[in-house]
Amino acid sequence: MTIHIGAKPGDIAETVLLPGDPYRAKWAAESFLNDVTLVNEVRGMLGYTGTWNGHRVTIQGSGMGMPSLSIYVNELIRDYDAKTLVRIGSCGGMQDHVAVRDVIIAMTASTVTTPSRGIFKELNFAPCADWSLLQAAVAAATRKGTKTHIGGIYSSDVFYDERPDLNEQMVRHGILGVEMEAAELYTLAARHGRRALAVLTVSDHLLTGEALPPDQRETSFGDMVDIALRAAFDA
Ligand code: HPA
Repeated sequence: MTIHIGAKPGDIAETVLLPGDPYRAKWAAESFLNDVTLVNEVRGMLGYTGTWNGHRVTIQGSGMGMPSLSIYVNELIRDYDAKTLVRIGSCGGMQDHVAVRDVIIAMTASTVTTPSRGIFKELNFAPCADWSLLQAAVAAATRKGTKTHIGGIYSSDVFYDERPDLNEQMVRHGILGVEMEAAELYTLAARHGRRALAVLTVSDHLLTGEALPPDQRETSFGDMVDIALRAAFDA
């Protein structure tokens, strides 16, 4: 047990999928895994361990934003020895050629700041995905025929953004989408020598204002979960 995760030692698998939303963890575990056990419910941040094609997997909610994700990922790595961590979540599209329901596989995650800013000081560290996971995710998405974009994303500290000028620069520099967690996940994985990737579904679009209706969210998120699982075990 850790401060924020009630799982017993051994309850957490080496491979962990990290949705922001604890109820998405429940849905993904019930939809994709066999022999599912609830391993964490501290603060309602649900975590489940089960098997996928015979492999042990944990699906643990990370909460919204990098400070929350940092708590769970630090404890998963330090106390439970998680080795492969794949974020599954939603993002806002930032390019014309990126549509709602498309999948984005994040090579890099730009930021204004992260919880690691303090240790990097003047250094602009470039958080990037694990290559083997990235390659396996792209291969899985290609096999499935999912409309997928691979490139840089933006990990923001705010959902209700007040800096349209920054978004303009991001769009201009080809950033595909915005979410709130991947950069710190990639940074922590780099610090501890673990593998990390973010596979995201575009749930809304900053340029068009389009948003996925709530009843279509689950089915659209299924491709992302499948790609994340295949990447974790093919890589
Ligand atoms: N901004 C930040 N995070 C998000 C968004 C967004 O528009 N959509 C989904 N996650």
